[in-house]
Amino acid sequence: MSTAATQAPAVGRDLGYKTYSIGGFRFERDEYFAHITYPGGRHLMPIDAFLRALMRDVAWGFFYGTVNFDEVLGTTNYYGEVELFLGAKNEAFVRARRDVTERFSSADFMKICKAILSDWTNEGFDPFAAPLETAAPFGDKRGSNDKALERERVSAHRMVGLAGDTEVRTNANGYPVNRMFEDVPQHQPVVEALPGFANEVAAFNLFGYLSRSDVTWNPSVCSVLRDSLFCPTSEEYILPIDHGNDRVEWFIQLSDEITWDVKDGATGRPRARVTMRAGDVAAMPADIRHRGYSTKRSMLLVWENGSSAIPELIRSGKAPVVPVKF
Ligand code: PHB
Ligand code: FE
Repeated sequence: MSTAATQAPAVGRDLGYKTYSIGGFRFERDEYFAHITYPGGRHLMPIDAFLRALMRDVAWGFFYGTVNFDEVLGTTNYYGEVELFLGAKNEAFVRARRDVTERFSSADFMKICKAILSDWTNEGFDPFAAPLETAAPFGDKRGSNDKALERERVSAHRMVGLAGDTEVRTNANGYPVNRMFEDVPQHQPVVEALPGFANEVAAFNLFGYLSRSDVTWNPSVCSVLRDSLFCPTSEEYILPIDHGNDRVEWFIQLSDEITWDVKDGATGRPRARVTMRAGDVAAMPADIRHRGYSTKRSMLLVWENGSSAIPELIRSGKAPVVPVKF
Protein backbone atom coordinates (compact mmCIF):
# COMPACT_ATOMS: atom_id res chain seq x y z
CA MET A 1 0.00 0.00 0.00
CA SER A 2 1.45 3.39 -0.96
CA THR A 3 1.96 6.16 1.58
CA ALA A 4 -0.48 8.36 -0.32
CA ALA A 5 -3.17 5.69 -0.06
CA THR A 6 -2.66 5.24 3.69
CA GLN A 7 -3.11 8.96 4.23
CA ALA A 8 -6.36 9.24 2.33
CA PRO A 9 -9.41 9.28 4.61
CA ALA A 10 -10.73 5.78 5.17
CA VAL A 11 -14.31 7.01 5.30
CA GLY A 12 -15.87 8.96 2.41
CA ARG A 13 -19.25 10.43 3.40
CA ASP A 14 -19.57 12.56 6.56
CA LEU A 15 -21.54 10.43 9.04
CA GLY A 16 -21.15 12.84 11.94
CA TYR A 17 -18.26 11.06 13.67
CA LYS A 18 -14.95 12.80 14.38
CA THR A 19 -11.54 11.44 13.39
CA TYR A 20 -8.83 11.10 16.05
CA SER A 21 -5.03 10.95 15.80
CA ILE A 22 -2.23 10.13 18.19
CA GLY A 23 1.39 9.59 17.12
CA GLY A 24 1.31 7.83 13.75
CA PHE A 25 -2.15 6.34 14.32
CA ARG A 26 -5.45 7.66 13.02
CA PHE A 27 -8.88 6.39 14.10
CA GLU A 28 -12.00 6.81 11.93
CA ARG A 29 -15.40 5.15 12.00
CA ASP A 30 -18.11 4.52 9.45
CA GLU A 31 -21.50 2.80 9.69
CA TYR A 32 -20.06 -0.62 10.46
CA PHE A 33 -16.33 -0.41 11.08
CA ALA A 34 -13.51 1.28 12.96
CA HIS A 35 -10.62 2.09 10.61
CA ILE A 36 -7.17 2.39 12.13
CA THR A 37 -4.60 3.90 9.80
CA TYR A 38 -0.90 3.80 10.65
CA PRO A 39 2.44 4.15 8.87
CA GLY A 40 2.44 1.13 6.58
CA GLY A 41 -1.18 0.15 6.45
CA ARG A 42 -4.76 0.21 7.53
CA HIS A 43 -6.66 -2.05 9.88
CA LEU A 44 -10.39 -2.61 10.14
CA MET A 45 -12.56 -3.88 13.00
CA PRO A 46 -16.34 -4.28 13.38
CA ILE A 47 -17.48 -1.20 15.34
CA ASP A 48 -19.35 -3.21 18.02
CA ALA A 49 -16.26 -5.29 18.82
CA PHE A 50 -14.05 -2.19 18.74
CA LEU A 51 -16.25 -0.19 21.14
CA ARG A 52 -16.67 -3.12 23.53
CA ALA A 53 -12.88 -3.57 23.72
CA LEU A 54 -12.22 0.17 24.02
CA MET A 55 -14.78 0.36 26.84
CA ARG A 56 -12.73 -2.20 28.81
CA ASP A 57 -9.45 -0.33 28.25
CA VAL A 58 -11.10 2.90 29.45
CA ALA A 59 -12.91 1.40 32.46
CA TRP A 60 -9.97 -0.73 33.57
CA GLY A 61 -7.19 1.84 33.03
CA PHE A 62 -5.56 -0.45 30.39
CA PHE A 63 -5.93 -3.47 32.73
CA TYR A 64 -3.16 -5.91 33.61
CA GLY A 65 -0.79 -6.55 30.71
CA THR A 66 -2.13 -6.64 27.18
CA VAL A 67 -5.61 -5.91 25.91
CA ASN A 68 -5.85 -7.44 22.43
CA PHE A 69 -8.83 -5.89 20.60
CA ASP A 70 -8.40 -8.65 18.00
CA GLU A 71 -5.42 -10.59 16.56
CA VAL A 72 -3.79 -7.37 15.33
CA LEU A 73 -4.67 -4.28 17.37
CA GLY A 74 -4.03 -3.85 21.08
CA THR A 75 -2.51 -2.05 24.05
CA THR A 76 0.05 -3.07 26.65
CA ASN A 77 0.03 -1.44 30.05
CA TYR A 78 3.34 -0.21 31.47
CA TYR A 79 1.54 1.43 34.40
CA GLY A 80 2.04 5.13 33.69
CA GLU A 81 2.81 4.53 30.03
CA VAL A 82 0.97 2.45 27.50
CA GLU A 83 1.93 0.91 24.16
CA LEU A 84 -0.47 0.94 21.24
CA PHE A 85 0.42 -1.72 18.69
CA LEU A 86 -0.68 -3.20 15.40
CA GLY A 87 0.60 -6.70 14.70
CA ALA A 88 3.20 -6.77 17.49
CA LYS A 89 1.52 -9.80 19.10
CA ASN A 90 0.82 -11.51 15.78
CA GLU A 91 3.41 -13.96 14.55
CA ALA A 92 2.75 -13.32 10.84
CA PHE A 93 2.94 -9.52 11.18
CA VAL A 94 6.19 -9.74 13.16
CA ARG A 95 7.77 -12.18 10.72
CA ALA A 96 6.86 -9.89 7.81
CA ARG A 97 8.11 -6.87 9.80
CA ARG A 98 4.75 -5.16 9.38
CA ASP A 99 4.18 -4.62 13.10
CA VAL A 100 4.20 -1.11 14.60
CA THR A 101 4.26 -0.05 18.25
CA GLU A 102 4.17 3.40 19.81
CA ARG A 103 4.40 4.30 23.48
CA PHE A 104 2.38 7.13 25.03
CA SER A 105 1.81 8.51 28.48
CA SER A 106 -1.24 6.68 29.81
CA ALA A 107 -2.95 9.99 30.59
CA ASP A 108 -2.53 11.32 27.02
CA PHE A 109 -3.71 8.13 25.38
CA MET A 110 -6.59 7.71 27.84
CA LYS A 111 -7.88 11.16 26.82
CA ILE A 112 -8.13 10.03 23.18
CA CYS A 113 -9.68 6.68 24.14
CA LYS A 114 -12.40 8.41 26.17
CA ALA A 115 -13.09 10.94 23.40
CA ILE A 116 -13.44 8.20 20.75
CA LEU A 117 -15.65 6.06 22.97
CA SER A 118 -17.97 8.95 23.78
CA ASP A 119 -18.19 10.28 20.21
CA TRP A 120 -18.60 6.91 18.49
CA THR A 121 -21.16 5.42 20.90
CA ASN A 122 -24.70 6.02 19.68
CA GLU A 123 -27.79 6.47 21.80
CA GLY A 124 -28.92 3.15 23.27
CA PHE A 125 -25.69 1.25 22.67
CA ASP A 126 -24.09 0.02 25.89
CA PRO A 127 -20.66 -1.56 25.32
CA PHE A 128 -20.82 -3.30 28.72
CA ALA A 129 -24.24 -4.88 28.15
CA ALA A 130 -24.94 -8.32 26.72
CA PRO A 131 -25.90 -8.07 23.01
CA LEU A 132 -29.51 -9.02 23.85
CA GLU A 133 -29.74 -6.17 26.36
CA THR A 134 -28.53 -3.27 24.20
CA ALA A 135 -29.40 -1.46 20.98
CA ALA A 136 -27.00 -1.79 18.03
CA PRO A 137 -24.08 0.65 17.54
CA PHE A 138 -24.29 0.83 13.73
CA GLY A 139 -25.14 3.63 11.33
CA ASP A 140 -24.74 7.42 11.22
CA LYS A 141 -24.10 9.33 14.44
CA ARG A 142 -27.24 9.35 16.57
CA GLY A 143 -27.10 10.81 20.09
CA SER A 144 -24.78 9.45 22.75
CA ASN A 145 -24.76 7.24 25.85
CA ASP A 146 -22.28 8.82 28.26
CA LYS A 147 -24.29 7.62 31.25
CA ALA A 148 -23.44 4.01 30.38
CA LEU A 149 -19.82 4.86 29.55
CA GLU A 150 -19.20 6.68 32.80
CA ARG A 151 -20.56 4.01 35.14
CA GLU A 152 -18.50 4.01 38.25
CA ARG A 153 -16.46 0.84 38.49
CA VAL A 154 -17.11 -1.10 41.68
CA SER A 155 -13.89 -1.06 43.65
CA ALA A 156 -14.28 -2.02 47.28
CA HIS A 157 -11.78 -0.68 49.80
CA ARG A 158 -12.27 -3.74 51.99
CA MET A 159 -15.46 -5.55 51.04
CA VAL A 160 -18.88 -4.96 49.51
CA GLY A 161 -21.44 -4.19 52.19
CA LEU A 162 -19.13 -2.89 54.93
CA ALA A 163 -19.97 0.48 56.45
CA GLY A 164 -18.65 3.26 54.22
CA ASP A 165 -17.72 0.78 51.48
CA THR A 166 -19.42 -0.01 48.15
CA GLU A 167 -23.06 -1.04 48.61
CA VAL A 168 -24.85 -4.35 48.27
CA ARG A 169 -27.15 -4.26 45.19
CA THR A 170 -30.91 -4.03 45.64
CA ASN A 171 -33.99 -3.16 43.57
CA ALA A 172 -34.12 0.12 45.47
CA ASN A 173 -30.63 1.22 44.43
CA GLY A 174 -31.27 0.37 40.80
CA TYR A 175 -30.04 -3.22 40.41
CA PRO A 176 -32.93 -5.60 39.64
CA VAL A 177 -32.20 -9.32 39.27
CA ASN A 178 -31.09 -10.16 35.72
CA ARG A 179 -33.51 -12.18 33.54
CA MET A 180 -31.11 -15.16 33.51
CA PHE A 181 -30.70 -15.29 37.29
CA GLU A 182 -34.29 -15.31 38.50
CA ASP A 183 -33.65 -18.63 40.32
CA VAL A 184 -30.83 -17.20 42.47
CA PRO A 185 -31.76 -16.94 46.19
CA GLN A 186 -31.73 -13.36 47.41
CA HIS A 187 -31.50 -13.77 51.19
CA GLN A 188 -28.68 -12.02 53.04
CA PRO A 189 -26.66 -13.77 55.77
CA VAL A 190 -27.44 -12.70 59.32
CA VAL A 191 -24.37 -11.38 61.11
CA GLU A 192 -24.52 -10.92 64.85
CA ALA A 193 -21.36 -9.09 65.86
CA LEU A 194 -20.39 -8.54 69.46
CA PRO A 195 -20.52 -4.91 70.56
CA GLY A 196 -17.55 -3.02 69.12
CA PHE A 197 -17.07 -5.42 66.16
CA ALA A 198 -19.90 -4.27 63.91
CA ASN A 199 -17.39 -2.65 61.54
CA GLU A 200 -15.08 -5.68 61.48
CA VAL A 201 -17.43 -8.58 60.79
CA ALA A 202 -19.60 -8.67 57.72
CA ALA A 203 -20.99 -10.98 55.07
CA PHE A 204 -23.08 -10.62 51.93
CA ASN A 205 -24.73 -12.93 49.42
CA LEU A 206 -22.26 -12.91 46.50
CA PHE A 207 -24.57 -14.94 44.22
CA GLY A 208 -27.38 -12.49 44.90
CA TYR A 209 -24.97 -9.62 44.26
CA LEU A 210 -23.81 -11.02 40.90
CA SER A 211 -27.36 -11.91 39.84
CA ARG A 212 -28.03 -8.15 39.94
CA SER A 213 -25.09 -7.06 37.78
CA ASP A 214 -26.20 -4.89 34.85
CA VAL A 215 -22.94 -5.42 32.95
CA THR A 216 -21.03 -8.34 31.48
CA TRP A 217 -17.32 -9.20 31.31
CA ASN A 218 -16.43 -6.55 33.86
CA PRO A 219 -14.65 -7.94 36.92
CA SER A 220 -15.14 -5.60 39.86
CA VAL A 221 -13.14 -5.56 43.06
CA CYS A 222 -15.50 -6.90 45.74
CA SER A 223 -13.00 -7.75 48.47
CA VAL A 224 -9.43 -6.73 49.16
CA LEU A 225 -6.80 -8.25 51.43
CA ARG A 226 -3.45 -6.54 50.76
CA ASP A 227 -2.68 -7.53 47.12
CA SER A 228 -5.33 -10.22 46.99
CA LEU A 229 -8.27 -8.94 44.94
CA PHE A 230 -11.49 -10.91 44.48
CA CYS A 231 -13.00 -9.64 41.23
CA PRO A 232 -16.24 -11.50 40.49
CA THR A 233 -18.17 -10.80 37.30
CA SER A 234 -21.20 -11.96 35.34
CA GLU A 235 -20.58 -13.18 31.81
CA GLU A 236 -22.78 -13.48 28.72
CA TYR A 237 -21.73 -13.86 25.06
CA ILE A 238 -18.00 -13.20 24.41
CA LEU A 239 -15.24 -11.48 26.39
CA PRO A 240 -14.62 -8.54 24.03
CA ILE A 241 -10.84 -8.73 24.38
CA ASP A 242 -8.15 -11.40 24.24
CA HIS A 243 -6.51 -10.65 27.55
CA GLY A 244 -2.71 -11.09 27.53
CA ASN A 245 -1.79 -11.66 31.16
CA ASP A 246 1.29 -10.10 32.77
CA ARG A 247 0.77 -12.19 35.92
CA VAL A 248 -0.96 -15.41 36.91
CA GLU A 249 -4.66 -15.10 37.60
CA TRP A 250 -7.06 -17.67 39.00
CA PHE A 251 -10.58 -18.38 37.76
CA ILE A 252 -13.25 -20.00 39.92
CA GLN A 253 -16.40 -20.78 37.95
CA LEU A 254 -19.24 -19.96 40.32
CA SER A 255 -22.19 -20.92 38.11
CA ASP A 256 -23.05 -22.32 34.68
CA GLU A 257 -20.30 -22.67 32.07
CA ILE A 258 -17.61 -20.70 30.23
CA THR A 259 -15.39 -21.97 27.42
CA TRP A 260 -11.95 -20.34 27.19
CA ASP A 261 -9.70 -20.16 24.15
CA VAL A 262 -6.16 -19.95 25.49
CA LYS A 263 -3.36 -18.86 23.15
CA ASP A 264 0.31 -18.01 23.45
CA GLY A 265 0.60 -14.43 24.69
CA ALA A 266 3.39 -13.39 22.31
CA THR A 267 2.40 -15.14 19.07
CA GLY A 268 -1.29 -15.97 19.35
CA ARG A 269 -0.67 -19.68 18.64
CA PRO A 270 -3.48 -21.82 20.10
CA ARG A 271 -2.57 -23.54 23.37
CA ALA A 272 -5.73 -24.91 24.96
CA ARG A 273 -9.48 -24.84 25.04
CA VAL A 274 -10.74 -24.99 28.60
CA THR A 275 -14.36 -25.66 29.48
CA MET A 276 -15.14 -24.57 33.03
CA ARG A 277 -18.33 -25.66 34.80
CA ALA A 278 -19.64 -24.51 38.18
CA GLY A 279 -17.05 -25.35 40.83
CA ASP A 280 -14.09 -25.67 38.42
CA VAL A 281 -10.89 -23.79 39.26
CA ALA A 282 -8.13 -22.86 36.80
CA ALA A 283 -4.94 -20.84 36.92
CA MET A 284 -4.28 -18.81 33.80
CA PRO A 285 -0.49 -18.59 33.26
CA ALA A 286 1.34 -15.27 32.95
CA ASP A 287 2.46 -15.90 29.34
CA ILE A 288 -0.89 -16.52 27.65
CA ARG A 289 -3.85 -14.61 26.22
CA HIS A 290 -7.42 -15.79 26.64
CA ARG A 291 -10.98 -15.11 25.51
CA GLY A 292 -14.10 -16.58 27.09
CA TYR A 293 -17.51 -17.61 25.70
CA SER A 294 -20.67 -17.93 27.80
CA THR A 295 -24.08 -18.70 26.27
CA LYS A 296 -26.09 -18.78 29.49
CA ARG A 297 -25.21 -15.78 31.67
CA SER A 298 -22.75 -17.16 34.22
CA MET A 299 -20.83 -16.09 37.31
CA LEU A 300 -17.04 -16.12 37.44
CA LEU A 301 -14.65 -15.19 40.22
CA VAL A 302 -11.41 -13.71 38.87
CA TRP A 303 -8.73 -13.70 41.58
CA GLU A 304 -5.97 -11.17 40.89
CA ASN A 305 -2.70 -10.42 42.61
CA GLY A 306 -2.53 -6.62 42.42
CA SER A 307 1.17 -6.33 43.35
CA SER A 308 2.93 -3.83 41.06
CA ALA A 309 6.18 -5.81 41.42
CA ILE A 310 4.93 -8.86 39.53
CA PRO A 311 5.23 -7.88 35.83
CA GLU A 312 8.95 -7.11 36.22
CA LEU A 313 9.56 -10.26 38.28
CA ILE A 314 8.00 -12.25 35.46
CA ARG A 315 9.80 -10.41 32.66
CA SER A 316 13.15 -10.96 34.40
CA GLY A 317 12.42 -14.66 35.02
CA LYS A 318 12.49 -14.26 38.82
CA ALA A 319 8.85 -15.31 39.19
CA PRO A 320 7.37 -18.35 37.41
CA VAL A 321 4.63 -18.02 34.79
CA VAL A 322 2.56 -20.75 36.45
CA PRO A 323 1.62 -20.97 40.14
CA VAL A 324 1.96 -24.74 40.44
CA LYS A 325 3.78 -27.51 38.57
CA PHE A 326 2.36 -31.04 38.55
C1 PHB B 1 -9.61 -11.75 32.17
O1 PHB B 1 -8.98 -11.27 31.26
O2 PHB B 1 -9.03 -12.48 32.96
C2 PHB B 1 -11.04 -11.46 32.31
C3 PHB B 1 -11.52 -10.25 31.90
C4 PHB B 1 -12.87 -9.98 32.02
C5 PHB B 1 -13.71 -10.92 32.54
C6 PHB B 1 -13.22 -12.15 32.96
C7 PHB B 1 -11.87 -12.42 32.84
O3 PHB B 1 -14.99 -10.66 32.66
FE1 FE C 1 -7.14 -12.42 32.07
